[in-house]
Amino acid sequence: MKIIKSPKILHQELVKLRLRDSKVGFVPTMGALHDGHLSLVRASNRENDVTVVSIFVNPTQFGPREDFSKYPRVFGKDKKLLQRLKVDFLFCPSVRGIYPEGLGKRGQTITPCLPPFVSNAKWPRLAKGLCGKFRPGHFQGVVTVVSKLLNIVGSCRLYLGAKDYQQAVVIRQMVKDYGLNARVRIQPIVREKDGLAMSSRNRYLSQEERLRARKISQVLFALKRDVLKREKTLNVLKNQTLTELKKHVGQVQYLEIVDPVTLIRLKKFQRGMAALTACFVGKTRLIDNVIIRFP
Ligand code: PAJ
Repeated sequence: MKIIKSPKILHQELVKLRLRDSKVGFVPTMGALHDGHLSLVRASNRENDVTVVSIFVNPTQFGPREDFSKYPRVFGKDKKLLQRLKVDFLFCPSVRGIYPEGLGKRGQTITPCLPPFVSNAKWPRLAKGLCGKFRPGHFQGVVTVVSKLLNIVGSCRLYLGAKDYQQAVVIRQMVKDYGLNARVRIQPIVREKDGLAMSSRNRYLSQEERLRARKISQVLFALKRDVLKREKTLNVLKNQTLTELKKHVGQVQYLEIVDPVTLIRLKKFQRGMAALTACFVGKTRLIDNVIIRFP
């Protein structure tokens, strides 16, 4: 595994490989890797000749009161995990490498990532609701860094997890909006044995919080079963789920049933639906979702 810090060197290496017809798979991460990340790496290994994993804790996607400075950084451990999976390139740029123009106050990027000729981008609409409402500027930061990373990596398959469902939908739309040379591959959520979606942030949970956190997936799975039974209206089922969830976790930022493509809130049943939630367990913000499909 080659460990590369310089965007320019990574770019040149990948240009050379593509000239020899190698297909490149790219897995962007912020490190503190777990089986969820590794499932993306395995998918990339299966479907490409070369796999690039990036580890970059991106300052522009964290809000002023969020956990940027205390986000877990365990480079040595991550490196070993990726070596074991025979990843070809580990890209770990510095903040300067990705943001040579510098960062504005509170870590917000001051350079718009978008080429000025693009005016009718659709991704901002997808980024408005759900997490976007509670984390202003978050998806702007995600789109900024992912578009920069894609410029460096070049033509590739891009692997994203359904765990961050809204993020995956926003990035897929951004790739379309700007005609970027990437095929987005969204992979299923990897869960702990008790159903809790794996997340780098789970390590913040105390033992007692960890027990409460498993309720999140349990209520989502119950909601899915109930929706498929179709005995009550969507609104009744949603409120029922919210009440149950609130018994176990702290603040629930949202629990919504939306169209899986447009992320528009649904009032009635339809063939495909996505139920998404974000809530706090103690001081830790957790997100999870289930896709519901009538056969
Ligand atoms: P990070 O939280 O490190 O996640 C990297 C990728 O792993 C994302 O695509 C995420 O959806 C996926 N992932 C995380 N937990 C997962 C799980 N339990 N099952 C399946 N996939 C999972 O998401 C980010 O980093 C950043 O926003 C990034 C896209 C790298 C931009 O900075």
